[in-house]
Amino acid sequence: MSPWEDRVKTLIRNGRIVTAQDDYQADLLIDGEVISAIGRSLKTEAGQVVDATGLLVLPGGVDVHTHLDMPFGGTVSSDDFETGTRAAAYGGTTTLIDFAIQSKGQSMRTALDTWVRKAEAKATIDYSFHMIVTDLPDAGIEEMNSLIRDGVTSFKLFMAYPGVLMVDDGTIFKAMKNASRYGGLVCMHAENGSVIDLIVKEALAQGKTAPKYHALTRPTTAEAEATGRAIALAEIADAPVYIVHLSCAEALSKVREARDRGIPAYAETCPQYLFLSIEDYDRPGFEGAKYVFTPPLREKWNQEELWRGLAQDHLQVISTDHCPFCFKEQKELGRDDFTKIPNGGPGVETRLSLVYNGGVRTGKITLNRFVELVSTAPAKMFGLFPRKGAITVGSDADVVLFDPEAEATISASTHHMRIDYSLYEGWRVRGVPRKVFSRGRLIVDGDTFLGRAGAGSFVRRSTYSGL
Ligand code: URP
Ligand code: ZN
Ligand code: ZN
Repeated sequence: MSPWEDRVKTLIRNGRIVTAQDDYQADLLIDGEVISAIGRSLKTEAGQVVDATGLLVLPGGVDVHTHLDMPFGGTVSSDDFETGTRAAAYGGTTTLIDFAIQSKGQSMRTALDTWVRKAEAKATIDYSFHMIVTDLPDAGIEEMNSLIRDGVTSFKLFMAYPGVLMVDDGTIFKAMKNASRYGGLVCMHAENGSVIDLIVKEALAQGKTAPKYHALTRPTTAEAEATGRAIALAEIADAPVYIVHLSCAEALSKVREARDRGIPAYAETCPQYLFLSIEDYDRPGFEGAKYVFTPPLREKWNQEELWRGLAQDHLQVISTDHCPFCFKEQKELGRDDFTKIPNGGPGVETRLSLVYNGGVRTGKITLNRFVELVSTAPAKMFGLFPRKGAITVGSDADVVLFDPEAEATISASTHHMRIDYSLYEGWRVRGVPRKVFSRGRLIVDGDTFLGRAGAGSFVRRSTYSGL
């Protein structure tokens, strides 16, 4: 019987269930789309029995920061909602939150409709959207509230990219005040865009056009200043704030200081900032363009600070900021001018394995904290919990059977993301998803993809309620 046609019961036997809190041996029963029972030696009839001996049974990964099918700098990110969600599933992620972009003067509702149309026939796993706000006239306030009522409960605003996405402090304050009143959460891209723009112009005038100048023109202090300012604006507005893609210790200290004072400031970082560094821009030829994303990679010593931040809850989430552009055709647009290199890098498929291998196996974070960072906390933060991010009766049966001992080599020649390079080419990792269930359906079985375009659903999210 195909699980696509009929309600099927699946019994996962002998697994080690690991959540953000617990770690125990038990069987797990999936009935249709939800988890219906958890217990030792469950006696039940099931159409499908899976032996999970030696495997971790984890809640599906929740990646709250991706950019699929996203226009940027005259091109479009190379994964669409089919290829991107398929790659996510291979990597153990079963829900993602992408970004709909309101262009200036456009209604947010129109922007949302555009992104829903990109996703609905293609997504293989469940998804939602944050709304990128570029324009907030008074009429926009009511629109924000209407989006919140419809389950789009978070908004991203930019302090960088002047003339394109950047908004002023008044707009940020207005958005925060309103969002917090109606249960929304504002996410901030925190970099001082006006200052960076001047530094960039100076560099170009001096003929500094190579990819490494992307990093050298975006100092850590510009990120830290904007992070501190975003938090200050949130404090005045009496609102929570979530800093996206935090890359360095200097910005982290702003979040830590605020949290120590009891301010509801949160932040995510991404694997690229935990594993790669500014030295990657010195690769030969134009290779450094592969690492052009924003914020840029930082000096290596920042990595230990970020890991410490993750372990001590100064950072709450690991997302990917997956925003792939092919090296050959797309990064090439900036060969003579680093400002024309499309900003973004791939990562939706490698998050769990990288963080498990580089975080849990090295003792930097515990296994429970790993689950919290890649699944439970992002689900809570963005109104998906306990439907997502949990292994509990009644939760969606988004389940990953993860082999903690299996090894894999990361490579563009074997990954499923639609991009011609990997940021981690040739890296060996231990810890690999073996089977992935999305709302009860087995969609990844080893190397085989069993999912279906259009099977993923738009998830209406709850209002912000903290962690
Ligand atoms: O370089 C990046 N991060 N591209 C995606 C857009 C953003 O700011 O998140
Ligand atoms: Zn951003
Ligand atoms: Zn992003």
